[in-house]
Order: sequence, then C-alpha cells, then structure tokens
Amino acid sequence: MKVLITGIDGYSGWPLALHLLSRGHDVVGVDNFVTRRRVREVGSWSATPIPSFAQRQSLVNQLLGKELPFHRGDLGRYDFVARVLEEERPDAIVHLAEQRSAPYSMIDVHHAVTTQVDNVVGTLHLVYAMRDHCPDAHLVKMGTMGEYGTPNVDIPEGFFEIEYRGRQDRLPFPRQAGSWYHWSKVFDSGDVMFASKIFDLRATDVMQGVIYGIRTAEMTDRRLLTRFDFDETWGTALNRFIAQAVLGLPITPYGKGEQIRGFIALEDSVQSLRLAVEHPADRGEYRVFNQFDAAYSVNQLAETTHQIATELGLSPRIEHPPDPRIEAEQHYYAPIHERLYALGYQRTRELSEVVREMFTDLLRYRRRLEARRHVVMPTIGWRRADNPAALNARVAASSAPPSAEPPPPVQDR
Ligand SMILES: NC(=O)c1ccc[n+]([C@@H]2O[C@H](COP(=O)([O-])OP(=O)(O)OC[C@H]3O[C@@H](n4cnc5c(N)ncnc54)[C@H](O)[C@@H]3O)[C@@H](O)[C@H]2O)c1
Repeated sequence: MKVLITGIDGYSGWPLALHLLSRGHDVVGVDNFVTRRRVREVGSWSATPIPSFAQRQSLVNQLLGKELPFHRGDLGRYDFVARVLEEERPDAIVHLAEQRSAPYSMIDVHHAVTTQVDNVVGTLHLVYAMRDHCPDAHLVKMGTMGEYGTPNVDIPEGFFEIEYRGRQDRLPFPRQAGSWYHWSKVFDSGDVMFASKIFDLRATDVMQGVIYGIRTAEMTDRRLLTRFDFDETWGTALNRFIAQAVLGLPITPYGKGEQIRGFIALEDSVQSLRLAVEHPADRGEYRVFNQFDAAYSVNQLAETTHQIATELGLSPRIEHPPDPRIEAEQHYYAPIHERLYALGYQRTRELSEVVREMFTDLLRYRRRLEARRHVVMPTIGWRRADNPAALNARVAASSAPPSAEPPPPVQDR
C-alpha cells in the first residue's frame, strides 16, 4: 500500500514510517517542522539528537535500502495539500500533523487560537482534498483518549447505545476535554465523522492513549531514534519523571497523583496504526478505536520510574507539587478497547521493560538533559495570566551558554 504520513518528522510519525517501510509498504511524508520550532520556542530540545529530515531520508536509504519521498509544507495551505494528494494519490493517509501539547495550548490566547485553528483547518483541508483527489483512500486520523475526559461510567469506542425518555439511539459518546488542545481534537473528530458521511470517505479515528518509548525494532542505529521531549510543555509525565531521575531532581507527580490515563508503548502504537491501515474502513464508514494497552495512575508511573532508577544506582525521590491543571485528581476510569484486538493486535511491550530501555538511552544523552535541566518543572498553569512571562524567563535561561556542553553529534534543527 502507498501510505502518506502527515507529521512524518514527529515523535510518532518517524517510527511509523520506519515500521511501514519495513513491512513492505511505500511511504510518503509531509511535514513543516513546526514541532522543532515550537520546542525551541519554549527553550527546550529533544534529549535524543534529531538529524535533519534530509539526513533521515539518507539513513532510510542506507540502512533500510528504501526511498522515502517527502513534501515540505503546511497543512494550513490548501493549495499545498491538494497538490500533494493529487500527485501522490495514496491508498491511506495517517494524519498526525497537529499541535499536540496541552500545556502549549494553555499558555495564552494566542497559543490556544493557533492550536485550534491549525488542527481544525489542517484536517478540513485534508478531507476536502481527499474528496477531490483520492476519494477511495482511507483516513487514519490520530485523536486522543483525552477527548473523553474522565466520566464516572465506562468509556465505549466512540459510540454508545442510549435510552432517553423512552426512546433509544446510538450516539457519539460525550466528550469532556481538559485543555484547548484536547478540544481541538474533539472538533476534528466531529469534522471527520461528518466528512465521511457527506463525502463518502473511509475514516478511522484513533483515540490514542499516551505513548511512551524512544525506539522500535526498526531502529537498528542510534541515529534512527525518535525524539524525546522532557520539558513541561512537550514532555509527557513519564518522560519528565525519567528525566528528573537522571538529573537528580525530585520526581513530581502533580497533586495527589491519582489521575489515571491510558498508555501504550511506541512499538505497539505503530503496530496498531499499521493494523488500522491494513484493514481499512468501508466507504462512508467512520469508526473509532480506543488505542491503549493499560491504564496507570500518575503515581504508578512515578513509582515504576523510582524503582528502576534505584536499580540503576540513581537516588530518586518523589515529591507532589500542586497540580497546575484543572482536572479531577481522583476518579473512575474504565475505557473499553476491543476493536484493535479483533484486528489481531497483540501487546508486545511492558511498561517497566520500556522504562528501563528509556533510561539506558537517556543516560547516554545525559549532557543534553543537563543543558536544559531548568525546563522540566512546571511554570504553565491552566488559569494563570503570567504564563508567558514565566516561559520567557525560562527561554532566556536556555539561551545562556550551557556549561561544558559539547556540540551535539547531529543537528536538532
Ligand atoms: N505522543 C502522544 O503520546 C500522543 C497521544 C495521543 C495523541 N497523539 C496525537 O498524535 C499525533 C502526533 O503526535 P506526536 O506526538 O507525533 O506529535 P509531534 O509534534 O511530535 O509530531 C507532529 C508532526 O507534525 C508536524 N506538523 C504539525 N502541524 C503541521 C502542519 N500544519 N503542517 C505540516 N506539518 C505539521 C510537526 O512538525 C511534527 O513533526 C497528534 O495529532 C497528537 O495529538 C499523540
């Protein structure tokens, strides 16, 4: 199959490209490198050095013996999106090219607006270009489990049967997102559901749990590793905990630490996306997969990190700062996730095994963590008006020359 990946240069797009190529699919990429710029904007960088995309293409050629065609451009420009789809006519499009950080969307009005405009407009451009240039292609759209929030009932895969005042229907399950970013994903889901109906498109909306890990089986060379973000804006809780343990900082689950979320290892996330691509939805069908393996509380992540760090001879400790987010710190959480298993999905990685592997990789890049150690602790609050000032102070600290930091082996643009 020919698969077009939007956001191919990102955390999950890059490993997905390697995985699909190694399984015999043709892959075409699209990206505008905005994540690299936005991570720099908050004074941070990926702990794993990320080669330029041209270097990534040469590595694919050299190590996998494959071609990786690429279009640099912004999904916010319809002429670009339409031209790429007309030229490539892919069988499937995996759409990952969105602003994906909840804290980034909460910085101020401008970041909230950028997040919602970029995400919704990019998706609308894609569905219109699909209608006109590749109406039989299958859109695999990356959503998030965060769209559902944490309701006090089980969470179905997208739709549920409801009886209300004596009448019954099958309806989309209510969404209760917890950031402007998560609301942008809700709006996307509504738009993709509607587009599949009016344009007769095939669509799979993947409610993705939080992904963890830096490598997959295809990454046989260190230069192929994906990005590892660890700052408060771009790093997940688990990434920040591991970075904190490596840096000798306290591991900091926010608030009570009993917030529960669904998680999936990177290797299993790319397996799931491949299965969705290889088993397309029908024409006019909009289907929803809840894509995660296991649910963990933030405290469980902190304890797993603490235990493995101790085994590795580090001296971690756990502290609980106030939660900067507005969210339930204790709640029921029981999402259903059966549809992927029905396609043959099998869990291959366990949390503790992957965390150990992440420590091994990160200890190698300890100096890159050290050089940005001030970006890990939270400054962005969901209600605070002084977020930009706090961030500016941190960015200024990042531009101070790091002490004895050697040049990174490859450029993180
Ligand atoms: N990483 C996770 O744990 C996770 C969890 C749930 C959902 N998701 C979703 O998965 C998708 C990918 O996430 P990720 O972690 O790989 O993010 P990422 O930021 O690392 O990758 C996204 C890529 O898309 C590119 N991009 C963004 N906007 C673009 C635009 N308008 N035009 C062209 N390129 C653009 C970026 O430059 C980047 O390379 C996102 O939609 C995100 O919401 C991720």
